[in-house]
Amino acid sequence: MADLAARHARVADDVERRVLAVLRSGRYIGGPVVTEAERRLATLFGYAHGVGVNSGTDALIYALMAMGIQPGDEVIVPAVTFFATAEAVGRIGAIPVVADVRDDLPLLDPGTLPLTARTRAVIAVHLFGEPCPLPALPVPVLDDVAQAAGASPPARTGSVGAASFYPTKTLGAAGDGGIVLADDPAIADAARKLASHGMPAPYVHDRVNGHFGANSRLDAMQAAVLLGHLADLDARLARRRAIAAAYDAGLPEDVRPLPRGPGHPVHHYVVRTPGRDALAAALAAAEIETAVYYRRPLSSEPALAGGHPAGAVPNAVRYCAEALALPVHECLTDGDVDRVLDTIRRAHSRTRAE
Ligand SMILES: Cc1ncc(COP(=O)(O)O)c(C=O)c1O
Repeated sequence: MADLAARHARVADDVERRVLAVLRSGRYIGGPVVTEAERRLATLFGYAHGVGVNSGTDALIYALMAMGIQPGDEVIVPAVTFFATAEAVGRIGAIPVVADVRDDLPLLDPGTLPLTARTRAVIAVHLFGEPCPLPALPVPVLDDVAQAAGASPPARTGSVGAASFYPTKTLGAAGDGGIVLADDPAIADAARKLASHGMPAPYVHDRVNGHFGANSRLDAMQAAVLLGHLADLDARLARRRAIAAAYDAGLPEDVRPLPRGPGHPVHHYVVRTPGRDALAAALAAAEIETAVYYRRPLSSEPALAGGHPAGAVPNAVRYCAEALALPVHECLTDGDVDRVLDTIRRAHSRTRAE
């Protein structure tokens, strides 16, 4: 599903030169490399300001805090997403309220949002890079763009965003990293202070009124790695889109790819099929890795199950039983892609014959 050593080889000269320059500069926390990365990454995601933090999870946490979300507030999250989306809400003492997804895509269904008088925000997860549009809402929207680097135009519904640079992301660091995204400089400033002991800049002692901060910064080494990888992003996206088009054209009829728009960054290529587990087993037998994003709705996670009646998210339940992500990354060859397709076609004709 990923080959990070092969990916590094694509950008090795630039990344290693940049990392060495940081090592020799002595500027490891903050400094010009971090500032440049924050500026360029904010632009990539379509925001005016970016605040580098330690991970995508922390980006969600500090974005929610900077938006003023308080303990006990309800925040709506989609039933199909990585656990961290809801975890960030729970981590600050707020209540993640799980909502069902659309029947065509695992994105929040605007028709069934469980808005109440206590709802203070909605997290729109742009899963796999597919934009999650929502109508005008009475509460602010936080964009979880952890999987949406390179979406064109940027996947953006709300006024604040959070991205992850976990190494396997299309734009990944060589370790953990994330960024809080905002147009409002006051939100960006609040997030910067919260993620750095209340300090607006390294070594500048100040506090955010009424909050404990923490230590969660994107360090200069990871910022240098990300700047090196940014130069390869367009080529990565082009290759991922070409592989996705080859899959679209070559898959048997009842293995259906999720619909996607032309600017989709193909962070994951996901198909739906009623015979998902048999197909995954056939691919595994041919030593082809696949993944299920995600195996069960968030509402059935033990940490979240309280207050979420079973069966309340029927579209998510159906999606989780049928979805399978096929390998799609820039280091796959045409031969790799053909082998995936051949294996799927063979498994499929075997099943039909039985
Ligand atoms: C949708 C989504 N949200 C949040 C995160 C959390 O990001 P991180 O792993 O950098 O903390 C991820 C990363 O896997 C993700 O895919």
